[in-house]
Amino acid sequence: MNCGYALLTQSGETLPLSTRGDKLQQFQLQMYHYAALGIKFQGSLAGKKVLDLCCGRGGGVAFLAKQYEAAEAVGIDFSAHQINTAQDLFTNGLEKETEDNQASSSPQSSIQFLQGDAEKLHQVEELNGKRFDLVMCIEGMHCLGNPTAMIDYVQKHLLADNGQIVIVDSFDKCDIERIEANFQKDKKLIIQKKEVITFNVKHAMQLDKTRAEKLIQRITGNKVVTRILRNFLASGEESKTYDELGKTHEYICYVLMKKSAVDLRKTSSSLYQGQQEQQTQGSNSYFGFSAGHHQPFNIRNQSNSFSSNYGASANLVNSQTAQTY
Ligand SMILES: C[S@@+](CC[C@H](N)C(=O)[O-])C[C@H]1O[C@@H](n2cnc3c(N)ncnc32)[C@H](O)[C@@H]1O
Repeated sequence: MNCGYALLTQSGETLPLSTRGDKLQQFQLQMYHYAALGIKFQGSLAGKKVLDLCCGRGGGVAFLAKQYEAAEAVGIDFSAHQINTAQDLFTNGLEKETEDNQASSSPQSSIQFLQGDAEKLHQVEELNGKRFDLVMCIEGMHCLGNPTAMIDYVQKHLLADNGQIVIVDSFDKCDIERIEANFQKDKKLIIQKKEVITFNVKHAMQLDKTRAEKLIQRITGNKVVTRILRNFLASGEESKTYDELGKTHEYICYVLMKKSAVDLRKTSSSLYQGQQEQQTQGSNSYFGFSAGHHQPFNIRNQSNSFSSNYGASANLVNSQTAQTY
């Protein structure tokens, strides 16, 4: 699972989760929610097809499919062990989940887990001819030797016309400029949104410290192995990951979109502007980095006041990212 995402409040919650399993992974699921919906102020994935690259054991994408009514969700991971676990837990219409989860599972969602290399997606036969509205890669990009190849392939062969690619990861500050240029090379994709969420990730790691520590103790009693795990386990506060965030690295969420789709939106927006001068202001902010504007979004079965809280915090984070640690 990923490092987690927390609001900058005492509890850090963005989602009031109900099931025991979901609550245990509160911050990791919040990261998925933030990347799929929160950053875009959307409330649902209804009718959308979602592909999760480097999905791990599949809990994140299964949560999205279940809670936000994606029409189809596919998770891909290199590790056969992770995929087997994901299939055991979440496939067959999400039937094999815990009793708690079954109650809130969405019968509309179809979910599939495939073993495959994100850098060789052409080899994953099941993907042939498929197009996705949302392609996510959460804390997977740093594992890839040639992430540009993955993004090129997704853009050419797997992304629907108005689809978005969401990349979330920790990036070395020295590499950010080059990576952003690579995202937009050949002018096929543009960065539609970018948010530095280092504060939210570090806060999640702090709040998750006890759980991470228990997990480490469960895995090993050996002091040396414990030290190594503490250093590298994503959720361990005072781990290498925690320490370098904000100093040498930033944790960033990028939303990429096909240039052609953005041009189309711009064109229709300016046509619209001619007719309805007033309403174009919102669409301008759509193209900016960290626009910080806030539209309410609904969480299934949740109230709007909760959503407002989330939006306000996103703005707070944006204003904080310029500060030093
Ligand atoms: C830090 S985990 C993130 C898992 C998940 N996205 C999440 O946020 O919970 C990184 C995952 O990437 C997978 N991975 C690494 N290299 C990969 C590759 N080339 N293709 C597909 N998956 C890969 C690993 O097996 C691991 O499950």
